[in-house]
Amino acid sequence: MKAILIKSFGKADQLYMGEYQTPKPAMDEVLVKVRATALNRADILQREGKYPPPEGASLILGLEMSGEIMEVGAEVEKWKVGDKVFGLLPGGGYAEYAVIHQDMAMAIPDNLSFEEAAAIPEVFMTAFQAVHWLGKLQPSERILIHAGASGVGTAAIQLAKAMQAGDIIVTASQAKHNTCQDLGAHYIIDYKNQDFKKEVKEITDGEGVDVIIDFIAAPYFERNISVLRTDGRLIMLALLGGAHLEQFNLGNLLRKRIQILASTLRSRSREYQIRLTRAFAEFAILRFQDGRLRPVIDQVVDWNEVKTAHQRMESNQNTGKIVLKISES
Ligand SMILES: NC(=O)c1ccc[n+]([C@@H]2O[C@H](COP(=O)([O-])OP(=O)(O)OC[C@H]3O[C@@H](n4cnc5c(N)ncnc54)[C@H](OP(=O)(O)O)[C@@H]3O)[C@@H](O)[C@H]2O)c1
Repeated sequence: MKAILIKSFGKADQLYMGEYQTPKPAMDEVLVKVRATALNRADILQREGKYPPPEGASLILGLEMSGEIMEVGAEVEKWKVGDKVFGLLPGGGYAEYAVIHQDMAMAIPDNLSFEEAAAIPEVFMTAFQAVHWLGKLQPSERILIHAGASGVGTAAIQLAKAMQAGDIIVTASQAKHNTCQDLGAHYIIDYKNQDFKKEVKEITDGEGVDVIIDFIAAPYFERNISVLRTDGRLIMLALLGGAHLEQFNLGNLLRKRIQILASTLRSRSREYQIRLTRAFAEFAILRFQDGRLRPVIDQVVDWNEVKTAHQRMESNQNTGKIVLKISES
């Protein structure tokens, strides 16, 4: 099969279209002809040699896909050849064919194209896990979502709205504010020109927020703790701004009974990912069908354009997902 491969770890120009062995489905897996996949920051780190795939995963990039089932393993009961599915992968999405465990696949809602379906799994399931499972957001609670126009951010805004959050406050660069507002954010902070700590305090009359979804880490840590209310939850998903803190007074954590939870979805066991897939599908599929949730797509490009697609994400130009359409060979 054709697949996007890496010559040697490095910049986007190391990506090329090559030949790779077509995967074979295990007894409990299905083989999918991939019609679309989407970019994630993890792909960039993996391309640079900074994020090896978990044991047993395909070495090919790509954490999600949508497509049509071509073959089912001997034990597969819930799917048949021709079914249209989408789902999370531990790797292997940038290819003509991919295998997925039968319980990790979800049926594509009729109203969604392959490109739209491929834009959902990684960011929506990450956001669902962060807002609901880890953040335990309750109706009327306030949430602060950093990088609100990112793939995960745009999903988190919609999920927080669906979970009846009180104030949804996000940070994003100015050009991306309209998208955040359209999705349901109540307050948008231009973090490049405004101090989010001061703004959040003003918006909340000094009370702060109950849940924070953070990707920036070190440079935001002190301010995040400062704008959390008592019993607040800080969910850490990435280290975009850096990993090391010079100094921090731990007193605030105790005084406010703060919970800090960090997570990476890719490293979770298959059993965990299956539970998450089920819970997410139960919550979200109907909402995608009736339009209350929607994938936010920055661009759909042919997979031959993968280098420029990676460069676009690396330079923070995208708002939402960059989707790769897997053209016929
Ligand atoms: N832990 C997990 O399970 C998990 C799962 C999926 C993704 N992630 C991580 O979550 C992050 C977002 O992923 P994504 O796919 O949604 O990314 P994305 O769509 O590429 O968006 C990232 C956005 O974050 C903002 N940003 C980048 N660097 C920043 C910085 N230093 N300070 C403030 N804002 C910054 C930029 O938007 P502005 O223009 O607004 O600055 C950028 O467009 C990535 O780091 C990714 O690796 C974690």
